[in-house]
Amino acid sequence: MVMARVVVTGATGTIGTAVCQLLQARGDEPVALSRGTSAATQRLPAGVACHAWPRPTLEPAPVEALAGCDAVIHLMGEPVAQRWTAAAKQRIRASRVRSTQMLVAALEQVPERQRPAVLISQSATGYYGPRGSEELDESAGPGSDFLANVVSAWEQAAMAAASLCRVAVPRTGVVLSPGAGALAKMLPFFRAGIGGPVAGGRQYVPWVHIDDVAAAMLHCLEDGDAHGPLNLTAPSPVTNAELARALGRALHRPAVLPVPSAALRLLYGEMAAIVTTGQRAVPKRLEQLGFSFHHDEIEPALRDVLGSGT
Ligand SMILES: NC(=O)c1ccc[n+]([C@@H]2O[C@H](COP(=O)([O-])OP(=O)(O)OC[C@H]3O[C@@H](n4cnc5c(N)ncnc54)[C@H](OP(=O)(O)O)[C@@H]3O)[C@@H](O)[C@H]2O)c1
Repeated sequence: MVMARVVVTGATGTIGTAVCQLLQARGDEPVALSRGTSAATQRLPAGVACHAWPRPTLEPAPVEALAGCDAVIHLMGEPVAQRWTAAAKQRIRASRVRSTQMLVAALEQVPERQRPAVLISQSATGYYGPRGSEELDESAGPGSDFLANVVSAWEQAAMAAASLCRVAVPRTGVVLSPGAGALAKMLPFFRAGIGGPVAGGRQYVPWVHIDDVAAAMLHCLEDGDAHGPLNLTAPSPVTNAELARALGRALHRPAVLPVPSAALRLLYGEMAAIVTTGQRAVPKRLEQLGFSFHHDEIEPALRDVLGSGT
């Protein structure tokens, strides 16, 4: 199916920008929904129209922006990589769960023949919680920590739209992208030669290249069999120690200085768990659907991201 008009929330973010650019490259029309249209217009790729959704946790999404669109990709969310104070936890949860409920409330108001055919609503491998080296496909159950609870509720809010349209919830892993996310936080240390494995390095990192994230989301738009949870992670997850070694090699820097988990907990509190624990998630559903990952090995993937201006 060729999409004409795709509404994208969080379009100003790292993943949203890549998704909008890929939609434009194939001739589709991304339409952003943003909390602030003037700031968004500065950050969005040229030519992306923008509608305001100023209070996504309190008010339904603008029905007029959704009516007649072919698909919705819902990516908004308060950054997780910050100290988890009570207020931050509330923002992290509400910006995902409430905004999804408010999006579904708006979809209910769109007349049936003008409704989008598909909703791709972001999810995350955090769904599984800390799981050691257990291999996790989509049939694995949820974890029980803060993030796992948020992600479960986020998915449930999205799946409530299943009576209105097809719904897919990509459980996205740690996205490797130039200038943002996990890699941007690691790079200064690795570039200075003081990077290394974190918290013993045995925890798995469900990495995925940003280009594969955008391509898989578009695959899910087109493939009528893409519904429910799909792990959006490279087929070959690595341990944190393997990631550190690969990054050191890609940068031609030593990467042997261990970072103890106690230091991270002191610096970041409970949030440190997002790097001191992990998931060995595998993209079983996406591979069954015939999606092939362009970046399936960590070191070439890192070299590619580093070469694109990190
Ligand atoms: N990057 C990763 O490694 C990764 C991995 C798994 C899952 N995810 C999830 O995928 C989504 C997009 O990730 P990303 O890396 O592209 O995020 P990002 O760069 O931080 O962008 C997220 C967008 O969400 C909106 N937003 C930020 N704070 C918000 C709040 N408090 N309430 C409502 N909207 C808010 C902003 O758009 P406006 O200002 O235009 O409204 C922002 O551009 C997030 O939900 C994230 O948790 C990311």
